[in-house]
Amino acid sequence: MKLFSANIEDFRTLYITNLQKALDMEQTIIKALPDLIDNAADANLSVALQHHLEETRGHAAKVESLLQQHTGEASTETCKAIHALATEASDTIKDVTDPSFRDIALIGAAQQVEHHEIAVYGTLKNWASLLGLTQDAAVLESIEAQEFKADSLLTQLSARINAEAPANTPAYR
Ligand SMILES: [Fe+2]
Ligand SMILES: [Fe+2]
Repeated sequence: MKLFSANIEDFRTLYITNLQKALDMEQTIIKALPDLIDNAADANLSVALQHHLEETRGHAAKVESLLQQHTGEASTETCKAIHALATEASDTIKDVTDPSFRDIALIGAAQQVEHHEIAVYGTLKNWASLLGLTQDAAVLESIEAQEFKADSLLTQLSARINAEAPANTPAYR
């Protein structure tokens, strides 16, 4: 993992560098999600996060494959944003101790990650198109679609979990 970026002097290098950051992002999420899964009280939330962990492994593999094609290796560049979001998520797990109330916080933390991923893949997909890399654009769009779906499932789950939580939560009584 490179901690310091080299000068980025052309659009293709900018694209590759951001693919490397996307790989670090996915690898960081793969490490962070099990803690969220273990701490989710709601069974459906736990299953949804577990399912997305499997999808996330697929995202990492797809980005690795794009990097292999372009550079002959799957090296990473630090994505500072995802490390900050992962720290926020683990702080949430430590700070919010009531299990039912904690699910609300976990969904919030997970959706912040999904929104970041959607922004990353939306940008990368557009850049790939501008660079004439149509196959890359299709791969990146397929990942973006799964991020959108994961986010929308979390929104659906939050509608029920957030509505149920206040009655069980001392802070709301
Ligand atoms: Fe992902
Ligand atoms: Fe995701």
